[in-house]
Amino acid sequence: MPVTTQQLIQFKQQGRPIVALTAWDYALAQILDVAGVDLILVGDSMSVVLGYETTLPITLDEMLYHAKSVRRGVKRALVVVDLPFLTYQESIQQAMHSAGRAIKETGAQAVKLEGGYPAMVETIARLVQAGIPVMAHVGLTPQSLHQIGLRQQGKTEEAAQRIFHEAIALEQAGAFSIVLEHIPADLALQITQKLRIPTIGIGAGVNCDGQVLVTSDVLGLLEKQPPFAKVYTNLRETITKAVQDFSVEVRERKFPQ
Ligand code: KIV
Ligand code: NA
Repeated sequence: MPVTTQQLIQFKQQGRPIVALTAWDYALAQILDVAGVDLILVGDSMSVVLGYETTLPITLDEMLYHAKSVRRGVKRALVVVDLPFLTYQESIQQAMHSAGRAIKETGAQAVKLEGGYPAMVETIARLVQAGIPVMAHVGLTPQSLHQIGLRQQGKTEEAAQRIFHEAIALEQAGAFSIVLEHIPADLALQITQKLRIPTIGIGAGVNCDGQVLVTSDVLGLLEKQPPFAKVYTNLRETITKAVQDFSVEVRERKFPQ
């Protein structure tokens, strides 16, 4: 049975932590789905596996191309597509157009966008009214890199209050879930206790309703990871070893047998 946005809210009510990871193609998405991940995010963080230094340059067309590939690999998990930088901030019409393309062209069930109050409240409300489930994202929002850097957010009492009230406003706008990125664990706990919708944390402590990590970090695919990531395996080493073994066997005429 495919996971629905309603079911994620039930998981929260049942105290069952939600497992989320990112994917950028069919092969990876299929592995994550069969492994039992609840939510697969086609995050604009895939920018790093495509060789961009930030998430700013990736286009909607690039995101949709990858989202289609991911969608083909998924039978159970809820698939959420990130709307990239400046494909939704300009106007509600622009957001509707971009989100509509993400849903209609890829088969994903929901979109995610960054930002809080007041910027995204009306936008989310309108997308939800149109039948598009929206995941919100506050705290460290990497599309605002040039304004806020990649630092932890919500460190002062004032900043923490702002994020807390943003989260409430985004729930009221109709978001089905919210990503809390790189904020203090006690703030994430307060938000998690206050909201009916599930909070999905990344660098936000253990008390969120679920956790998400960027899969290239989890797998050790790239040279560096953010401080809050955990590298569960080192695929760089595994792949390097396989490629070196193949190279030796070709050069020594041992492959094929
Ligand atoms: O793009 C992404 O991977 C994200 C997650 C970190 C939530 O937005
Ligand atoms: Na993102």
